[in-house]
Amino acid sequence: MKMLAVPAIVLALGGCGQKAEPPVSKTASDAIAQRLDPVGKVCVQGEECKGMAVAATVGGGGAKSPDDVIAKHCNACHGTGLLGAPKIGDTAAWKDRADHQGGLDGILAKAITGINAMPPKGTCADCSDDELKGAIKKMSGL
Ligand code: HEC
Repeated sequence: MKMLAVPAIVLALGGCGQKAEPPVSKTASDAIAQRLDPVGKVCVQGEECKGMAVAATVGGGGAKSPDDVIAKHCNACHGTGLLGAPKIGDTAAWKDRADHQGGLDGILAKAITGINAMPPKGTCADCSDDELKGAIKKMSGL
């Protein structure tokens, strides 16, 4: 009976004693590390991060997007046609102006210098000509 009891104790220790735990938890942490690894690699290699950076640049990293410029500077007057401003989306009104001033670049020039109640650069003092042009294009649909 004594000879049978010894392996039973060894089994009991091996099955649920401390000796069995390290390999089990090591396997678990290896599995976690493996699952995390591809994510870490993608970030380190910059594949997804690079893609996101490109998207951010397109969305207005450096240059202001037309939507931003309009929302912050132009919409106040052009949204409602305040003071006789051509309304956003009223392409006919914008086209009529453009036709009389040499096209989009003509009304861009007026927008830069200001015309009557239209303040210079539409109050966007730090807007580049291109940014203003983008906003005008978007507002006019031209
Ligand atoms: C304070 C009000 C106001 C703001 C802000 C404003 N505008 Fe205007 N805008 C006007 C008015 C009023 C006119 C019409 C002026 C006129 O012909 O008498 C006008 C006309 C224009 C024209 C036509 C110019 C022409 O030659 O007929 C353009 C282009 C224009 N705005 C662009 C912009 C842009 C771009 C912004 C934003 C960056 C902006 N405006 C912000 C009031 C505003």
